[in-house]
Amino acid sequence: MVPKKISVGLLGYGKAGKAVANILSADPRFDLRWIARRSANDESDVHPGTNVPIVGIERTPFPALFGRAPIDALVDFSSRESIHAYGDEARKRGIMLVSAISAYSESDLEYARSLGQHTRVLCSPNITLGINFLIVAAKLLRKIAPFADVEILEQHFREKSEVSGTARKIAETLDVEGERITSLRLGGIVGHHEVIFGFPHQTVRLTHESIRREAFGTGAAFALSQLAACGMGFYTFDDLLLRIMRAELSGG
Ligand SMILES: NC(=O)c1ccc[n+]([C@@H]2O[C@H](COP(=O)([O-])OP(=O)(O)OC[C@H]3O[C@@H](n4cnc5c(N)ncnc54)[C@H](OP(=O)(O)O)[C@@H]3O)[C@@H](O)[C@H]2O)c1
Repeated sequence: MVPKKISVGLLGYGKAGKAVANILSADPRFDLRWIARRSANDESDVHPGTNVPIVGIERTPFPALFGRAPIDALVDFSSRESIHAYGDEARKRGIMLVSAISAYSESDLEYARSLGQHTRVLCSPNITLGINFLIVAAKLLRKIAPFADVEILEQHFREKSEVSGTARKIAETLDVEGERITSLRLGGIVGHHEVIFGFPHQTVRLTHESIRREAFGTGAAFALSQLAACGMGFYTFDDLLLRIMRAELSGG
């Protein structure tokens, strides 16, 4: 039997949202029904190369949008306020939520967790599959070899002034001091993160390179497909990866 496509709405059509739309609209597992942003230029706008309409939330609020074009799942690449505008309606309709918003406050997260009592919710401030895998692998190696020296190297484009939030998250996860992070700023590097484990007689390097923003879409697609197989609840990206690893290790 052909599995039913997951019908998806995408919220946010900025730098990240446009790349995510490219991935979700081309993935046969999903039916991308609409894209919503704050205000659409023209109500007849579609995502290039597709028939996916782009609607403005100012003109078509969430209850009307969900009623007119029902969805199984909402992917959020907009801003931290949006969840408070669609949350109750999504909860009522049991819409699965994949939120990539990086800047949620503790109270926003509290609200997202409360939605998880009624539907499936994933919040991930970093949604690329590769970085999440790197963090899990680094955590595991740190546990296995707590005696190894650990250094974190991050490289980004010349204009990025602050230390990468992902590098700080890796340091925090591995319980190493922030001074162990080295930042290089060169040309147009999109994003390079490397965790170096120095053993007495060997060196292990875990490296992730960002190539294009479409990687956010690949991560959102992974999250949607995994979340669809989970029960109601609130999940992190780690939870989804660990589900697969546990099944793999137990031969399931
Ligand atoms: N987790 C990750 O790995 C990851 C990766 C990339 C981005 N993000 C997050 O994704 C979000 C967007 O990033 P971006 O770089 O794409 O930003 P951006 O270029 O500024 O785009 C934001 C988009 O969201 C829409 N939007 C904002 N507030 C809205 C609201 N209240 N209701 C409806 N639409 C709203 C905007 O609508 P208009 O176009 O009408 O203004 C715009 O299309 C940020 O929160 C960022 O942290 C997360």
